[in-house]
Amino acid sequence: MKLWGGRFDKDTDRLMEEFTASIFFDRRLAEEDIAGSMAHCRMLASQGIISPEEAGLILEGLAKIREEIRRGEFTYSAVLEDIHLHVEQRLTEKIGPAGGKLHTARSRNDQVALDMHLYVRKEILAVTSLVATLQQVILEVAGAHLDVIMPGYTHLQRAQPVLFSHHLLAYFWMLARDRERFLDAYKRADWMPLGAGALAGTTFPVDREMVAAELGFARLYENSLDAVSDRDFVAEFLSAAALLMVHLSRFSEDLILWSSSEFAFVTLDDAFTTGSSMMPQKKNPDIPELVRGKAGRVLGSLVAVLTMLKGLPLAYNKDMQEDKEGLFDTVDTLKICLMLYSAMLRTVKINAAQMYAAASGDFASATDLADYLVRQGLPFREAHAVVGRLVGSCVNSGRRLSELTPEELREASPLLGAEALLLLAPEACVAARRARGGTAREAVEEQLKKAREIMEP
Ligand code: ARG
Repeated sequence: MKLWGGRFDKDTDRLMEEFTASIFFDRRLAEEDIAGSMAHCRMLASQGIISPEEAGLILEGLAKIREEIRRGEFTYSAVLEDIHLHVEQRLTEKIGPAGGKLHTARSRNDQVALDMHLYVRKEILAVTSLVATLQQVILEVAGAHLDVIMPGYTHLQRAQPVLFSHHLLAYFWMLARDRERFLDAYKRADWMPLGAGALAGTTFPVDREMVAAELGFARLYENSLDAVSDRDFVAEFLSAAALLMVHLSRFSEDLILWSSSEFAFVTLDDAFTTGSSMMPQKKNPDIPELVRGKAGRVLGSLVAVLTMLKGLPLAYNKDMQEDKEGLFDTVDTLKICLMLYSAMLRTVKINAAQMYAAASGDFASATDLADYLVRQGLPFREAHAVVGRLVGSCVNSGRRLSELTPEELREASPLLGAEALLLLAPEACVAARRARGGTAREAVEEQLKKAREIMEP
């Protein structure tokens, strides 16, 4: 007999049972479910809704069930639908009719909402700490390679020389905002829904503040319909997750390009690459490729939850059970991606000479020559045209700007002295960008200092 079977004459269809059951994924909420039930039970006793003896039995029973679950001795079955019914059923098996009192003044609707809030809060802390670790690794690698110059790109065309550390630190700041977004989402996961009942509240004199205090919630939902219908905290978590994955995916794209023979800017450690079953020479950047690929499923989970919610009338609808698998999958995906990224980045080899060579070719310092002319008094637009013509003639004659003769320079513009060629070295281009946030070594050191500051607890 189902726990809710009273008004039914027939057994549930087996396929339907499997279809509606969530136990095979929501068993992940077991710890939260039991913690929530314990807090609820203590509150029921302190309000005189159940007796202290009953509460004692329930708490003891729940603790034992928690042990069974932790030891892997608990059995799950589609017949019992979800984690809430599993725990309640087992409790009654263990302690008898007192077990049936736990669900007083509660519905699975506010119960599952509570579990989900507890779970999201917990995972936000876990994920943000992994993000922080990755940020630390970035700081280490950037700090250890302050002299390395590479080409910066726009349109994936060499644009201007930058410090490799500067490029790497760009990802540090993206991750800093990701961490902020997660911690901000924590504030909304920190509302306590229990006491909403199925939708309208409860006829029992519950003390919702007590439950909130015991579980460490910052505030209560003030509206029972909202409390059981809200999944925006899930959507917010997924949205922060989607952006984090987009950042990691872009980082991955850089690493995949850089580790190709065409770039050869970095070498990924053997421990974090794979070979080919056919081509003996291959060494594939599987981690960044999979991270880039997995961004898709996280983005998909965000869209799935938003779409699931958008047409739902208040209050609870079974659709909302679909909030879980994408969330759980996202948590797993974020954790493994972040952990592997930190490990991979710690061991990456930086090929400074290759980067420098690339930064020296392809006119990456053309802007600096134009800026020089501007300092000699030429309007920028004209300077741009002068240097553009010089680049064109170098392209035609297969030379670099630094190989132009003094005569050619003077011919292009009387303002262009031979000393201008000194500005074309990648070091000079980098060193010239001293303004805050720029790529000169002093500016990057200043940036590193700020970055280290925000990592202090
Ligand atoms: N397994 C359900 C869920 O995840 C729990 C709430 C069930 N409530 C209900 N009225 N059927 O959403």
